[in-house]
Amino acid sequence: MRTLNTVIFPVAGLGTRMLPATKVMPKELLPVYDTPLLQFAIDEALAAGAKRIVLVSHPDKPAIAEYFRHDAALEATLAEKGKHDLLAAVEASNLPEGVDLHIVMQHEQLGLGHAVLCGADYAGDGPVGVILPDDLILGAPCLAEMTAAYDPETMNSLVAAQQVAPQHVSRYGIFDCDESVRDDALPCARFVEKPDPSVAPSRLAAVGRYILDQSVFDILRGTGRGAGGEIQLTDAIADMGGIHAFRFSGTRHDCGSKDGLVEATLAVQKMRKRAHLSVAAK
Ligand code: UTP
Repeated sequence: MRTLNTVIFPVAGLGTRMLPATKVMPKELLPVYDTPLLQFAIDEALAAGAKRIVLVSHPDKPAIAEYFRHDAALEATLAEKGKHDLLAAVEASNLPEGVDLHIVMQHEQLGLGHAVLCGADYAGDGPVGVILPDDLILGAPCLAEMTAAYDPETMNSLVAAQQVAPQHVSRYGIFDCDESVRDDALPCARFVEKPDPSVAPSRLAAVGRYILDQSVFDILRGTGRGAGGEIQLTDAIADMGGIHAFRFSGTRHDCGSKDGLVEATLAVQKMRKRAHLSVAAK
């Protein structure tokens, strides 16, 4: 598979770890240096070839839809004032021609699995991507790497994975797979949500990028509440079988946590300064 048609963005969560910053401002619009988290995620989906963006939001987060409103008046003001760099930055936040945006509501935050199911009506045909914008991955665009590695003949899912500290396994979906396999895509026997460290099958943890076969939606319709009383995407992926974990090459920052957001901000500041210096040197 070379491109991914549809990418679902679950953005309905409460963002409690970032309160009070997220009391009014959705977590997904918090800035990382100069750009909202959600914009990084959209750019990553576009780099994977996405033609349909599906945002699963919540009625208490109207700013998410507002962010995608084309602001012609702002663009005209910036053009008039000769602020060309800022104009280019604002224009880059408009979705390109030929890319559709759908916003659906998850009225009750019943969990990530439920949020993905809310996007089912717009999922189109073929494998679907899922990006959790609060997991920022810098470096090579992760979803594009995964799209190149996804084989619909042998895989029902491909999930970005990284090693985490033993004391953190209970925060993640954890894979049971043969990590001696040299391939970037590892077949896995099991996938367990938030296991107790004493019974966790490994320290290889899922982070917020998924490519899923369409059959996930049927499975999710029958998935009951799991860890934390939520409908877990991990449980549906485990039920589908054909699970694969993907070792991506970029660096992931957990921007759903305060320290992760600060670290990501410093990393993007460094990236921007490097880009600025290389333009200045030309
Ligand atoms: P998190 O587990 O980070 O939850 O969700 P959260 O509510 O956003 O944040 P905290 O833990 O309270 O601080 C992971 C992703 O899944 C989405 C979130 O918006 C986030 O992108 N999500 C989660 C939903 O869209 N709906 C849900 O019911 C749960």
